[in-house]
Amino acid sequence: MKLHDLRRDYELAELTREILNDDPMLQFQDWFTQAKEHAGLPDPTAFTLATVSAGGQPHQRTVLLKQIDPDGFIFYTNYDSEKGQDIKANPQVAMHFAWLVMERQIRIEGCAEKIDKDAVDAYFASRPRASQLGALASAQSSPIAGRDELEERYQQLAEKYRDVAIPTPKNWGGYKIKPSRFEFWQGGRHRLHDRFTYTKTADSWTIQRLQP
Ligand SMILES: Cc1cc2nc3c(=O)[nH]c(=O)nc-3n(C[C@H](O)[C@H](O)[C@H](O)COP(=O)(O)O)c2cc1C
Repeated sequence: MKLHDLRRDYELAELTREILNDDPMLQFQDWFTQAKEHAGLPDPTAFTLATVSAGGQPHQRTVLLKQIDPDGFIFYTNYDSEKGQDIKANPQVAMHFAWLVMERQIRIEGCAEKIDKDAVDAYFASRPRASQLGALASAQSSPIAGRDELEERYQQLAEKYRDVAIPTPKNWGGYKIKPSRFEFWQGGRHRLHDRFTYTKTADSWTIQRLQP
């Protein structure tokens, strides 16, 4: 089969201005709740995070959404990783949720900032020990000769912290992405998809329908 024969129609739902919430965070919450409840959609918290390096090179990778605040989206990572370095040079980032079984995608653009150390510590303490040790053992995004070295480091740390609380690694924490633009996309018949953007103004959001 040729790749160009792989196609399907999008006809699950329609998105109209009337059913959109005026507040994009509430609209996000609404779709997110539906995504969590959708049996065929694993990992609804997973999204693609796009960053741009100091030299202008875009990078993207999957991370997990861990908290939704009224003013932004929180994920956790290693601050020294490639994404951490990109964000340090340029805090403008983009998020992408591809909920294709629902014929939906959400694009969000905004500014990333580190969250408070207290909140990081509280979240880190809530993680399973294996995840805590993994975060401590990995200098994320740095090269390593082999997996053995990582496993060994993990075992040494497991021994070192046997029966005691594991401290949050100094270079590990969370970012809050404060959104300035959203786009909600719902696949439509005849490739006439529904797209609505929300752009932040001084004290509200401007909503526009875009051509597909
Ligand atoms: C399903 C999934 C979830 C992931 N969640 C995270 C996460 O929450 N935080 C994180 O730092 N990396 C996460 N990763 C790993 C990242 O995709 C990436 O490999 C890592 O963060 C290094 O990226 P960087 O070198 O661009 O900084 C996840 C990967 C997958 C496939």
